[in-house]
Formats: sequence, C-alpha cells, structure tokens
Amino acid sequence: MKDVFGKVYLDAYHADHPVYYAIERDDDYLSISDANIYFADYDQFSAYEKEAIQQCQGKTVELAAGAGRISLYLQQQGVDVTATDISPKAIEVCQLRGINQTKVCSIFDLSIDEIDTLLIFGNSIPLAADQKQLVALLDQFYEQTTDDGQVFGDFRSPLPTKDPIHLAYHQQNRDRQLPVGRMRFRLRYQNLVGDWIDFWMYTKEEFEQAVRQTDWQIETTGETQIGFRLDKR
Ligand SMILES: C[S@@+](CC[C@H](N)C(=O)[O-])C[C@H]1O[C@@H](n2cnc3c(N)ncnc32)[C@H](O)[C@@H]1O
Repeated sequence: MKDVFGKVYLDAYHADHPVYYAIERDDDYLSISDANIYFADYDQFSAYEKEAIQQCQGKTVELAAGAGRISLYLQQQGVDVTATDISPKAIEVCQLRGINQTKVCSIFDLSIDEIDTLLIFGNSIPLAADQKQLVALLDQFYEQTTDDGQVFGDFRSPLPTKDPIHLAYHQQNRDRQLPVGRMRFRLRYQNLVGDWIDFWMYTKEEFEQAVRQTDWQIETTGETQIGFRLDKR
C-alpha cells in the first residue's frame, strides 16, 4: 500500500506551515485539500460528531481515524477508545499525539469484538463502494458489537451540486448503470501518487436502502453532509 494519507498526516504533524494534498478523480478533476482539517479541535467538530461523542459508551472503536482528532478528544474525556486506520503512518501520528490504544487495520478486517460504540467519521464509510460490500460491512459491524451496540458515522451526498463537471460525472455513472455517486480517485502529495480507490458517495436513500437489508435501525440528520446513527432496538 502506498501510504500517501499517512505521509500527509506525518508532515502536517511536524510542519509549521499548511500542508496541502490533491485528490485526483479518474476524469482528471483535481481538488486541493488542507491537511489541517484532520487535526481539528472539538470546537470545529460538526454538530452530529459532537452528539455522537456525548452518546459514546463502553468500549469505543474509531474506524479510519486518520490523525485521530475524535479519538484524542474522547480519550481526554475518559472514554475507553481505540483509534484504528489502515495507514501505519496515520497510527504513528495518533500515537505521537498521545492516543494510547491504536491498531493498524482495515474497516473490512477489524478483528475486534464486543464493541459498544463504533465511530466512522470523515466521509469514510463510502469506502464500501457497492451495495453488496456496504451490506456486508454493516452486517460485520452488527456481529462485532454488543447487544446494545451502536454505530455513528457520516457521509456526503453527491446530489447537492451545480458544478457542471460533477454533473457530467454523475451522468456518465447513470449511462453506465452505476449509482450516481460512484467515483474512483487517488491521492497525490509531493511526488507520491496513491493507488486508485473505489468510492461510493451514497444518497441518503441509497444508504437507508442498504441499512434496511440488515438488522440495524437507522436515524439520520442533514441532507448534504449526513450524520447517521445505527442501533439494535
Ligand atoms: C478522509 S480521512 C478521514 C480521517 C478521520 N476519520 C477524520 O475524520 O479526521 C480517511 C481515512 O481513511 C483511511 N482508510 C482508507 N482506506 C481504509 C480502509 N480500508 N480501512 C481503514 N481505513 C482506511 C485513510 O488512511 C484515512 O486516514
């Protein structure tokens, strides 16, 4: 694995200047991001992230934790939290920032059981890039959580855009009988080029439809940046 995200976090952690990286979509669309967002403080967390933090109970695991902004805050609040990420360098940054419990692992291969609260923020669940993979992932979460287990996360709907380049990309997906928000992208940073990643920016309806194929109950908030909570009621 080319750990481009990890190198971005590590440089941003050590740098005394902003660190920017690029996301290159497979239609050559390039967007530039500031790595600083991954080091945001509690004040900058979204309303649904703050709500989830309040509801965290018991053994808590954060998936795709990045530089660990949420796990770090939870640990400071006395929560029993483990930060996980597929990127070894991301986990190195979590450790440098003082997070005590960490694990390098994929969201698809977590191998932690009896979890009370699972967190997956930062638009990371769309790594489950087709319906079958998403339903399987939600089933896996169900198996790995306790009877009162809960999952909090978020995703960004592809629909609220007027950008003609994005609209053309959506149309190309429809023409290929793919969901509107399917995309393939890779990261670029300095001279590093990551592997292509398949991603599915779900509409709220698409996500809810996948959840209905599982035993989870769902609540959502928002229309563009959508926060969700799954529980076993
Ligand atoms: C957009 S960042 C979000 C970071 C963090 N959740 C946040 O909100 O600040 C996505 C993260 O997902 C991680 N990632 C990518 N594929 C993954 C996978 N299959 N399993 C676990 N983490 C993964 C990346 O290494 C990266 O740190």
